Amino acid sequence: MRVLLVGATGLLGTEIRRCLEPEHEVIGASRKGSDVSVDLSNKASIVAMYDAVGKVGAVVCVGGAAKFAPMDALADDDYAFSLANKLMGQVNLVRCASGHVEEGGSVTLTSGTLSQQPMIGSAAVSIVNAGVEGFVRAAALELQGKMRVNVVSPGWVAETLASMGKDAAQGIAAVDVAKVYKRAIDETMTGQTLLAAKT
Ligand SMILES: NC(=O)c1ccc[n+]([C@@H]2O[C@H](COP(=O)([O-])OP(=O)(O)OC[C@H]3O[C@@H](n4cnc5c(N)ncnc54)[C@H](OP(=O)(O)O)[C@@H]3O)[C@@H](O)[C@H]2O)c1
Repeated sequence: MRVLLVGATGLLGTEIRRCLEPEHEVIGASRKGSDVSVDLSNKASIVAMYDAVGKVGAVVCVGGAAKFAPMDALADDDYAFSLANKLMGQVNLVRCASGHVEEGGSVTLTSGTLSQQPMIGSAAVSIVNAGVEGFVRAAALELQGKMRVNVVSPGWVAETLASMGKDAAQGIAAVDVAKVYKRAIDETMTGQTLLAAKT
């Protein structure tokens, strides 16, 4: 199967590519350094990416950003950036997928643990992650029979914790998060939020 992987150059994207490549042809996308370039915050760029890539059996998105900062420090622009980037970028990936994802194919988005387990500084990120999960539940109803749509919610990733000087043992390894994205492609669920957290 051809799989379009948005955010292919990042921590999770790199592991997902490694996990999928033995079985699937992976086409990587990101703003720079990938097979095809895309800026999720720009809908025209998403349309151009789909046109450049041709039909795929699955789309996986581990790209997009949201601003992490205490509410006192979050300006209007920070909320607008977060909504336009990781939230609407992923929503638009689904909205623009028609005709580019094969019938019965799948789109798998990314939220994160901060949707359900907020912390100080996560207000904008928590809106975005919860929004992606709500969108997926609703969109799956309307896309029934056309394409499946799911979201993976990673817990803190071990490599990220290590890069922040925190205890990596509290996190899930990126290689294990990647296996959850593979399940979303290979299995038949739709409208689901798949948790990828340390057990
Ligand atoms: N790591 C964690 O602990 C963790 C935990 C929970 C949730 N998550 C979520 O998982 C996702 C991936 O995390 P990660 O740690 O792998 O991130 P990462 O290492 O920072 O990688 C992000 C990837 O997305 C691309 N990207 C960023 N902005 C983009 C845009 N506007 N348009 C297109 N591509 C864009 C980046 O490439 P370019 O910069 O070249 O575009 C890169 O390929 C994120 O949504 C993150 O919030 C991560």
